[in-house]
Amino acid sequence: AATGHMAPWPAFGAWAAVGAALAVMVRSHLADLDALARWIRSLASGDESGPPPGREDTTLAETVAAVGGLRRIWQQKSAELAESARRNESLLDNLPDPLLLLDPARRVVRANQAAARLFGRDLAGRDMAAFLRDPGVLDITEAVLAGQGPSRECEFTQMVPLERVFLARAERLQGQPADGGTAILTLHDLTTVKRMERMRADFVANASHELRTPLAALSGFIETLQGPARDDEEAREKFLGIMGQQAGRMSRLVADLLSLSRIELNEHTQPGERVDLGRLVATAAEALKPLAQAKGMTIRLAVAPGLAAVMAQPDELAQLFQNLLDNAVKYGRDDTEVEVTAAAVTAAELPRAAGTPLRSDPVVRVSIRDRGEGIAKEHLPRLTERFYRVDTARSRKMGGTGLGLAIVKHIVNRHRGLLTIDSTVGEGTTFTVWLPAAPG
Ligand SMILES: Nc1ncnc2c1ncn2[C@@H]1O[C@H](COP(=O)(O)OP(=O)(O)OP(=O)(O)O)[C@@H](O)[C@H]1O
Ligand SMILES: [Mg+2]
Repeated sequence: AATGHMAPWPAFGAWAAVGAALAVMVRSHLADLDALARWIRSLASGDESGPPPGREDTTLAETVAAVGGLRRIWQQKSAELAESARRNESLLDNLPDPLLLLDPARRVVRANQAAARLFGRDLAGRDMAAFLRDPGVLDITEAVLAGQGPSRECEFTQMVPLERVFLARAERLQGQPADGGTAILTLHDLTTVKRMERMRADFVANASHELRTPLAALSGFIETLQGPARDDEEAREKFLGIMGQQAGRMSRLVADLLSLSRIELNEHTQPGERVDLGRLVATAAEALKPLAQAKGMTIRLAVAPGLAAVMAQPDELAQLFQNLLDNAVKYGRDDTEVEVTAAAVTAAELPRAAGTPLRSDPVVRVSIRDRGEGIAKEHLPRLTERFYRVDTARSRKMGGTGLGLAIVKHIVNRHRGLLTIDSTVGEGTTFTVWLPAAPG
């Protein structure tokens, strides 16, 4: 009778077949995994070798797709990182202040372009003390590198090639950067600020001194009139005359100071009124006529016909020519002539010092020439400084404040023009004002 037992041989054959098929599949999977690992390694090392493996297999295809996605994100991130590093680099390089990144041994890890301009190229790797020898700066840097506080500051002066004053600031960086950069040293240029500070202090001292002189004279005469000269009619008349002069001098000084500060305040706004330059110069010359006649002098005007107008603030421009004519008459010899010429200028005639606004527009020129003692060359650069005079005693005696040319210079600046001075000692001086012509 049938027992229900299966014959053993066919069953064994089926298992063997399954086993063999499995072995083939596992091996091909292992080979695929191996290829996948190789591919991923090639991606990681940066040189991708051939296409991704095993596309036909669905689980493998998913893994490959996932790795591909990861790789795209990684590529994007690293491009972003590179871009941000480039931006930081150019940010550092475009900083106006010199900047040095230093390692714990004071060697330069990085230097921006401003630092290269100040200390020379190829700073990387050098000991900072090799090119920045100021003991104060070295001290603060050492202190910060040694961990004595997060930051230190000091001022230092560089003498060559030009005198410059800097505020040096050493600051410790957080963390342990891979490049060794431990502290940052920045140098902030204080030269202009210092110069302004000194100018302001000088100006206050000068202005006080100029006011104190007539004030002292006034007080002295008041005392004399109250005391010894009380009943001296003749002395009283004489002293009152001098007092009137001194008071006049003080009020001229105050008026000049006020107009100087007003012009300075407006220096950055360009004046916008069309002004007939020829007529304005003629009016100024007319106003100086009595003063000239008193010295036997004449003012000769030569205004080119059809002279272009200028954009100006008419009162300021009138003051400019009045101040120049006043000087020409005051410092010109008796019985000589002051020549005033106004004309359009060709590009070739422009002086070398002419800046962009003058080079881009048609220009008109007004020259005032006197026959006087002239001005020695060494005084020319300082002539337009406030209170600067060649001969202080003489200028004071003539009632001058020493502010006339300072006012001229600021008015010329506000009008985007240029002032040039030519002088020959013993022969005379020519002041020339160059102004851009009004458009149209
Ligand atoms: N045309 C000139 N010839 C010779 N020296 C001049 C002439 N113009 C100016 N200077 C010199 O330049 C100095 C400065 O001139 P500026 O006009 O600023 O002052 P000032 O004439 O002394 O006083 P203010 O003009 O305020 O009355 C004068 O003191 C004088 O020494
Ligand atoms: Mg003057």
